[in-house]
Order: sequence, then structure tokens, then C-alpha cells
Amino acid sequence: MFNFDYHNPTKIVFGQNRLAELDSLIPADAKVLLTYGSGSVKKFGTLDAVKAALGQRTVLEFGGIEPNPRYHTLMRAAEFAKAEQIDFLLAVGGGSVMDGTKFIALATHYRGDCAELLFKGTQQVDASSVLPLGTVATLPATGSEMNGNAVINHPDGKLALSSQTVYPQFSILDPSLTFTLPTIQVANGVVDAFVHVCEQYMTYPVDARIQDRMAEGILRTLIEIGPVTINEPNNYDARANLVWSATNALNGLIGVGVPQDWATHCIGHELTARFGIDHAQTLAIVMPALWQAHRNQKAAKLLQYAERVWDIQQGTEEQRIDAAIDKTRAFFESLGIHTRLSYYVADQQYIDDIIAALEAHGMTQLTESQDLDLAHSRELLLAAW
Ligand code: NZQ
Ligand code: ZN
Repeated sequence: MFNFDYHNPTKIVFGQNRLAELDSLIPADAKVLLTYGSGSVKKFGTLDAVKAALGQRTVLEFGGIEPNPRYHTLMRAAEFAKAEQIDFLLAVGGGSVMDGTKFIALATHYRGDCAELLFKGTQQVDASSVLPLGTVATLPATGSEMNGNAVINHPDGKLALSSQTVYPQFSILDPSLTFTLPTIQVANGVVDAFVHVCEQYMTYPVDARIQDRMAEGILRTLIEIGPVTINEPNNYDARANLVWSATNALNGLIGVGVPQDWATHCIGHELTARFGIDHAQTLAIVMPALWQAHRNQKAAKLLQYAERVWDIQQGTEEQRIDAAIDKTRAFFESLGIHTRLSYYVADQQYIDDIIAALEAHGMTQLTESQDLDLAHSRELLLAAW
């Protein structure tokens, strides 16, 4: 196992009917900016419940944060927060709203061009200038509620940032807030959480038994509850397990001390930026093809995954690896998520655009073995066609 530090400062407030506790989670004299997306939280009453819980505080709103949140929208929010001297941000929504709010927290008092936060990293950020934030999560998928990551859609690319300064102070996770999700978003959430685990697991063994078994436990849970939570939208226990799986998939714990891959996400972000394909759907296209292409580098973990996650024990090593990849693809498809690029993109010539974008963003040595160069990424996308 590699050396590691682990510190996760986010307080989780999990369960039904906990919104009233916002009152004790946010300073009484805070001037609060509520951030939200295209209206689902208004339609389903969550925003009203949040406002009621905030009582006498001065509360302002910024709605309209898009799925795959846009840089310019978030910059408008940051200017608003600065002009109004906001001192606490409360994100009410899914990953896009939570990520967007992290960016607003960084950008509001940033001295300099805020695009630097995406293109140069966040090491230079002065923690005391970052607004504190909390979240009320309405979509279990990204893990944003308990990590310091944000993925922002800038005109020059969909780019990720990571900073210890933007972990939410708290996140309220009420599984019943997810009952209103459209089926496709539930399926997206299962796949995104599944792939987050795989990005931190499907590499090579370093005898990290706790991390491996936690990862396998989350994967098995997602396989069990995926179909149930899709078919029974009001099944609280299934949603509770989905929410907690998704949070644990990307709160850093299973990724400590182990090699990580993230090539699927890097290529996936380019597919979203170029073609508008939902985040999780890009992952379902890329990951099975990546595993095929890197079956030798990943052989030991693929065999471990085959046995411990899918109970595959029969056959040669090559047959077991094939079966594990096939089962993974079939699982995504069973949730209604297509796994072939040709379903979304009209012509193979557009793969050139993805390769050019990967090059522009320096994504030329991907995976834990750093041997997925542009030529191999092209082959991979052709194989995913
Ligand atoms: O915008 P509203 O009206 O709220 O509607 C949203 C949106 O249309 C809707 N929705 C959310 N909660 C709902 C609901 N509809 C009904 N009932 C509810 N309870 O769902 C739609 C999708 O929302 P979005 O937030 O975009 O989805 P998701 O949570 O999947 O987030 C995707 C974004 O997160 C980034 C992705 O790249 C993408 O931009 N990621 C963030 C990560 C992180 N912070 O660690 C890691 C991930 O790998 C991912 O990259
Ligand atoms: Zn993801």
C-alpha cells in the first residue's frame, strides 16, 4: 500500500426529514446564497422547505445552474455573491449545482482571472478567501457532496478542479429527495458511482485489502440495488443504499494508498463537451473498451473483480476477464444506459475532434500505467463504436 494522508471535513446529515436542522448547521447571522439548477427543487418543494428552515436569515437565490455547469453562469453568480456580500453558499441540487457552487465559492473573492482556477490549478488559492458552503443533495451520483472536486464547462473544455478548500462543511443526504428523479438520472447515478469505484480499483494490486474490499462491497451493492431502485422509485431503503454508495464511491476513502486510473473520466468529459452526452453515459461507453484495451495491464485486478464482484470462477484467465467485461457492459445496458458510441454520434470522423481535445488538454498519457496515448485513445474509441 502507498503512503497517504486522509482528511475529510464534511459532516454528513443522513436520513429523512432532516432539512429543519439547517438552522443549526449555518451561522445564525449568515447572509446565505441558495444556488440551484433549472427548477426541479422549486417544482418539488425542496427550495421552500430549505427557506423555511433558514428562518430569519437574509437569504438570496441564484437559480439556473445548468447540468454540466457553465463557467459564465457561475461567474455571474460569483459577481452577485460578491456584490451582495454573501457569507455562506448553500447548494440545493445534483452534482452540477454542487460543483458549480464550489466554483462560486472559489471565484467570489479570487484575485486574478478565475479561468486560472481551471487551467492552472488551485494551489495558489488563499483558503481564507473561499466562501464556506453546504449542500442539500438531490441526486446520488457524483460524490460531490463529500469531496473537494468540481467539473466546470468552460468554452475551452470541460475541466476538473480539486481543492481542500471547497469540501462542503456539511451535506444533507435525504434519500427521499431523490424519489422525484427521472429514471434515466437514477440509472446515470448508479453507473457514475460504479465507475468512480472502478477508477480507483481497476488498476494493479498493492495489497490494499480494506480499500479493495470496500470497493467490491460498493460494486456489489450497486449491482443489487440498481434495478430495484429503478423499478421502485419510492423504495426508501434502495435509495438510501444508492445515496450512501454514491457518496462513498468518491469521498476519497477507497482511493487512499492505491493507484488510480481516471482515463475513463478524462475521455468521458471530452465526449460530454463535444456531443452533450450525459456524464455517466460517456463512462459506460469508454470503460468497457478501456478494460479490453488494457486487459494485460489490469489482468490481476480484472480476475479479482471477476471472482469477488461477479462470482466468476470457471474458465481460463482470458475467459474470466472476458466474462467480467461482458457482465459489466450488460449491467449498464440493463439499466437503460447504452454502451456504444455509435448510439450517440453520427459518424466516426468526429472521433478526430475528441483526439484533438485530449491533446489540447494534455491528456496524452492516461491510465495508471500512463501508456494510453492519443493513438491508443483513438483505437479505444473506435473499439467503443
Ligand atoms: O437542474 P435541475 O432542475 O435541478 O434538474 C436536474 C438536472 O436536469 C435533475 N435533478 C436533480 N435532482 C433532481 C432532479 N430532478 C428531479 N428530482 C431531483 N431530486 O437531474 C438533472 C441532472 O442533474 P446534474 O446535477 O447535472 O447530474 P449529476 O448529479 O449526475 O451531476 C453531473 C455533473 O457532475 C460532474 C459531471 O461531470 C457533471 O458535470 N461530476 C462531478 C464529480 C465530482 N464533483 O466529484 C465527479 C463526477 O465524476 C462528475 O464528473
Ligand atoms: Zn463521474
